[in-house]
This record gives sequence, C-alpha cells and structure tokens, in this order.
Amino acid sequence: MKSGVRRVVLVGTGFVGMSFAYSIINQGGIEELVLIDVNHDKAEGEAMDLSHGIAFAPDKTEIWAGTYADCGTADIVVVTAGVNQQPGETRLALVERNAKIMRDVVKNVMKSGFNGILLIASNPVDVLTYVAWQESGLSRHRVIGTGTTLDTARLRHEIGKYLNVDPRNVHGYIVGEHGDTETPLWSHTTVGVKPLLDIIQDDPQYKFEDLEQIYVNVRDAAYHIIDRKRATYYGIGMCTTRIVKAILNDENCVLPVSAYLNGQYGIKDIFTGVPAIINRNGVREVYNLNITKEERDQLHKSVDILRETLQTVL
Ligand code: 2OP
Repeated sequence: MKSGVRRVVLVGTGFVGMSFAYSIINQGGIEELVLIDVNHDKAEGEAMDLSHGIAFAPDKTEIWAGTYADCGTADIVVVTAGVNQQPGETRLALVERNAKIMRDVVKNVMKSGFNGILLIASNPVDVLTYVAWQESGLSRHRVIGTGTTLDTARLRHEIGKYLNVDPRNVHGYIVGEHGDTETPLWSHTTVGVKPLLDIIQDDPQYKFEDLEQIYVNVRDAAYHIIDRKRATYYGIGMCTTRIVKAILNDENCVLPVSAYLNGQYGIKDIFTGVPAIINRNGVREVYNLNITKEERDQLHKSVDILRETLQTVL
C-alpha cells in the first residue's frame, strides 16, 4: 500500500462485481479501485462509466482497468469472477468450473507480491474460499468469504417484515453453507435486546410455525430472484462493501463471513459462514456460540456437504 492510499482490486466485472464497485464508490472511503476482467475492454468501459459519477460521490476515488500487477500494493482483492447459477441450478453445481477459475485468479494475484486480505464472493463461496486459501498460501485469517452475510441480511429483512420492525434492529445469524443447507440460529436471534423466541411466546399474533416459512424464504431467495431476473447482485454487492469497510476501517465488528473453523462448534479444517470479528487483519476471532443441539446438528450436516464438495476439487 502507498502510505495512506487505500487500494481495492476487484477481479470480475460482471453484475456482482460491478454492483459492489458501484456500492463502494457511493459509500466512499477508498482512494483507488482497480478493475480486472478477462475481458479487458469490459473492465475499461466500466472504469470509464463509474469514473464519470465520482463528481457526485462522497470521496474522490481513482478507478482504472488494471492488471494483476496492481494487486501488489492492494489492501484487499475482491474476487467475484466465475460463472453464476442458471434458473434451478444450485450453487454447488458451479464448483468445478469456478474452482478452476479461482485457482488461476489467485495464482495471478499472488505473483504480484500481494500481501493483503483476499475476499471471495464467487460461488459456491465456502468451497471456493478454501480453494483460494490453499492456492494463496496466505494465513487463514487473511482469506475471507462473503459467507452467510447475505443470507443473514435476508433473514433480518424477513423478520423485520414479519414483526414490522426495522431490520437493522434484528440481530441474528444464518450459519453454515451459503446455500441450500444453511442454518438459522433462532436461539441467538434478538430484536433490540429481546429474544425472538420470547417475542413469539409473548404475543399471540405470532406463531413458532411461521419461523419455518421465514427460513425457507431466506434459503430460497436467490432461486426466486434468478427465476425472475436471471441473477442476484445488489444484495451481494452491498454485503461485500460492508465487509470491505469493516476491514479497511479496522472495525472489529461481527459479521457472518466464511471463515476457517479450527475446532469451533466441533468443526475443523473448513471455511463456512459463522459470526466472526473482522478488522484490518481479516478474521480476528470466530465466535463459538453456545447453540442448541438441533442447530449444531444442522450446521454439522451443512459442513458435511461442503466437505464432500470440496473433496471433488482438491
Ligand atoms: C445469492 O444468494 C446467488 O449467491 C447468490 O444471491
């Protein structure tokens, strides 16, 4: 990093990558944004287009279409490269194609002498974060996946709608796979400081059975969006911005990213979505919550699926 200059490199200028880029320049806080894509013309066009909006942004950000050499002094490299789901296709079905792309990308990033934080958003994100970590040789704290940050945001939205409260006051997490086996932690969900389960218990207009539908809406949200508009990108773009800001601002905030588990929840040697403290050095700590047996069993099943999928690309 040039002293005092915050540089973020984005690899992959598709819808997800550009939603992230648009979001971060509108929130401000970085001086340099480098766009890399296999289609360099596309990256150039995007850099030109975005740069024209800087006159109205909170901070001056220099944006250009770059090369992997630009990663050498980057604080964070965000990877969104890869193919995305077709209607009805699972995230796990993308693994072979995207693991190959991820290995190529990370190899090129590391050749630059990169020594920052690697943030992976491509799917299946938990498996690809492991692949990126392995390929990079970076310490496990410095490789992060977007994990269940988006699923958790969707959960907060759904609960906010159900209870008619501000989703920003809903605190709770989806853990495990960013995908079909993701796990809600109802035992640790609160609105303000009141446990969600107490709210349902205390008010006859709410029912415990409704939680299943809330979970299904969250779990299947991407399928419903992809059926209608072929892809999802604004939500994940904003999640990625949130994680990048947490890193650059040394926030020590809690976000459910895909982090390396080293015994937490009785799970080892896998990346998956868990609440973790994020700061300038990446993952400071993974929270080891005292979850219920049912939640733990579901999380373990989710991790088993991830492990099976990972084996196919190691
Ligand atoms: C999403 O959940 C497809 O992973 C993407 O929106």
